[in-house]
Amino acid sequence: MTGLRDSYSRCLRTRKLVDRHFELFLARHPMIPSFFVDTNLRKHKAALRSMQTAVVQFSLGDDLARTALERGARSHGPSEMNIPRALYRHWMTSLIDAVRECDPEFSPEVERTWHEAATKAVDYFVAAAMDVDHKR
Ligand code: HEM
Repeated sequence: MTGLRDSYSRCLRTRKLVDRHFELFLARHPMIPSFFVDTNLRKHKAALRSMQTAVVQFSLGDDLARTALERGARSHGPSEMNIPRALYRHWMTSLIDAVRECDPEFSPEVERTWHEAATKAVDYFVAAAMDVDHKR
């Protein structure tokens, strides 16, 4: 999956990936902004940046990325923020839309690679969010 890592590097060079991911995510569904009222935007953007890295690293089988996804998922489950399941696909779509804007070499192949990696990571994240709560 070097294609994915190269695309991610090109996106990072623009320094816009996190901002665009977050802006596009907020705009994707009227419910989404309501979850971010009274949150610390800087903290959230740092989290978003590390989750983007986790998407890339997780697809390469990195254990640290797996742990990062599990840790992040903790607050999203039914006993904490209780994020509706249907909203997760918006996180994924807005990530790919942000990559489309930021990567000057974006192509159907690059899109497929991101889609595959993001699906894997988001599925894992959602399962972890649900699991954590089942164990309580
Ligand atoms: C797979 C997709 C997602 C990932 C990987 C992800 C990851 C994270 C991480 C790592 C944090 C910071 C740690 C924490 O505060 O618990 C966080 C915070 C947060 N997430 Fe997500 N998240 C995802 C989807 C969503 C969705 C769909 C929503 C709501 C629509 C959401 C709403 C929030 C909110 C409100 C915070 C707290 C922000 C703050 O207090 O600064 N997340 N997310």
